[in-house]
Amino acid sequence: MNPTFTIAIDGPAGAGKGTLARRLADHYRLNLLDTGLTYRAVAYALIQHALPLDNVSAAETAARQVDLARLDRAVLSAHAVGEAASKVAVFPTVRRILVEKQRDFAKTPPGAVLDGRDIGTVVCPDADIKLYVTASAEVRARRRLAEIESIGGTADFTEILADIVRRDERDMGRADSPLKPATDAHLLDTSEMAIEAAFLAAMAIIDDVLAKRDKA
Ligand code: C5P
Repeated sequence: MNPTFTIAIDGPAGAGKGTLARRLADHYRLNLLDTGLTYRAVAYALIQHALPLDNVSAAETAARQVDLARLDRAVLSAHAVGEAASKVAVFPTVRRILVEKQRDFAKTPPGAVLDGRDIGTVVCPDADIKLYVTASAEVRARRRLAEIESIGGTADFTEILADIVRRDERDMGRADSPLKPATDAHLLDTSEMAIEAAFLAAMAIIDDVLAKRDKA
């Protein structure tokens, strides 16, 4: 029997997969990896060294230096870093380096919840559970605007929406590991669903798999 348990969560930016991943990792006592941070760390290193984002060999070096235990969310969560991350994420060699680290993480007992764009399709194709979390671009833009306003900022809804649509196109349209649901993923559309409801729905799916496994 496999000693680790893997939950793969994929979906576009702003669909709520990060919060869901955290809740599930807490509940099932699994390790947690937000794989977006690994691509962000590569982009951030290039920005820090004033290197262009299409410098593949510099991006590969930065990818090799990514230490999963030292990903600083506070620094990496900036919007511009996310945009830049989606540009370095198109390079297959960069992806291969990061995917290897992500797979090692997933294999560490007792297992992990990983969230990203290609977890169910590429990183952990044999994951015990695959969830694809999505929401309409308008709902995601509205959530992002509310988030910015809740910390006293201001932003333009149309610009945020355009940003989200552009990032979706880049992530879904790239040749290597495009964002798409794995054929065996459970779809969770959070457009009309609060995060608590999404968490309960995900738990029902996971508990069902665990119960069937116990019976087998
Ligand atoms: O999820 P987050 O916004 O942090 O991801 C930033 C970017 O990193 C994404 O837009 C995507 O291009 C890239 N990414 C990826 N594969 C993953 C996670 C993130 O290509 N597994």
